[in-house]
Amino acid sequence: MTLTQKTANATRLAELAIARCRALASFSEDMGSLRRTFLSLPMRDVHREIAAWLAPLSMNARVDAVGNLRAVYPGADSSVPRLLLGSHLDTVPNAGIYDGMLGVVLAISILEGLEGRHLPYSIELVGFSEEEGVRFGIPFIGSRALAGRIDDELLSKQDSAGISVRKAIELFGLNPGEIPDAVIDKNACAYLEFHIEQGPVLESLGRPLGVVEAIAGQTRMDFLFTGRANHAGTTPMNLRFDAMAGAAEWIVVVERTARTIPGLVATVGAVETRPGATNVIASEARVSLDVRNAKDGLRNRAVEQLTRDAQEIARARGLSVSSNVRMNQPAVPMDATLSSQIEGAVREVGCEPHRMASGAGHDAMILAEKIPSAMIFLRTPNGISHDPAESVLVDDVAKAIECGLQLLDQLSSQPLFHPRTPRA
Ligand code: HGY
Ligand code: MN
Ligand code: MN
Repeated sequence: MTLTQKTANATRLAELAIARCRALASFSEDMGSLRRTFLSLPMRDVHREIAAWLAPLSMNARVDAVGNLRAVYPGADSSVPRLLLGSHLDTVPNAGIYDGMLGVVLAISILEGLEGRHLPYSIELVGFSEEEGVRFGIPFIGSRALAGRIDDELLSKQDSAGISVRKAIELFGLNPGEIPDAVIDKNACAYLEFHIEQGPVLESLGRPLGVVEAIAGQTRMDFLFTGRANHAGTTPMNLRFDAMAGAAEWIVVVERTARTIPGLVATVGAVETRPGATNVIASEARVSLDVRNAKDGLRNRAVEQLTRDAQEIARARGLSVSSNVRMNQPAVPMDATLSSQIEGAVREVGCEPHRMASGAGHDAMILAEKIPSAMIFLRTPNGISHDPAESVLVDDVAKAIECGLQLLDQLSSQPLFHPRTPRA
């Protein structure tokens, strides 16, 4: 195939990949915007749609016990090493259509780009059921299942309707008793994830593709400020115990602290007050906190400081405050060998690679506990993500497909992927 034919083929696959992301975006819990949370009904439509795309590749899609979509593209000679390739299929509320989904769809495009060729290793496509942590407040349920990190504490977590993770699995028609079967077996040898950068770096450098060196650590917490409800019209300002005002004072401190610490980001994304009426002083304010940094020590010290600040503000206002850590995920380096293979493949397809850290969390940080894992970023125009304005460029998607095909061939000669007798 000539270079021109290769490029034309990749562009055709890229246009199809973008159309497929648009098709998946039609499966939402909300009218007029995209929200698809863990084991929601629209996820069933997504599984059906992807299964239809996989059928011509003779790949039978199955859904594991936590709702991950999984399908194997066999190796040339029933060889056992297996590369996992995928991303997540759940979304945040009012989401863009590429965060997660593009990584699953690109994996299918790359397999289609093999045009029937089989490699000396098999490839397992994975569409994770839950990466964002929207429904239960804890992310990575899908990839934790592959890493064997689902425990009773997690299964007992409840959503806002009081449904536990375990119950949600049963309501979707799956069997929590089969969760151990979702764990990757000894033949899974590496994990690769294509994902949009979700930030401004690649665009600012004019680069289509990036090589992720490490994924920032993140802490997710809830803080509950408790005061005393009272009449908004009759209660003098100096006699109030206003939980909303206390939370507001702390939210400004969160932002000011993050602005003073290089590389730290801290976000209050959700505030829920009670009783939530205009003419009632708030008795409660439940506030989310998301803190991230590439260095775990710096992140943990910032979290301790912000917790002390919340306690100081509450004390000064006659409020009480409690906090609950939902997740404390350490920063994770990507596999150096795979990353240098990615760098070589990016160059081979005519792009200048850029090595970078990821501020966003990804399933690769969970799989990396078990198998060598690495990520390839695609440029995000205007750096916008977690919003319907999220976009990609067709040429960048085409380059990602070319890079993926180049990488699969390169990996064929890597010891990690050499056929070996099935490990016991
Ligand atoms: O929030 C994140 O880090 C990612 O979008 N899951
Ligand atoms: Mn996301
Ligand atoms: Mn994502």
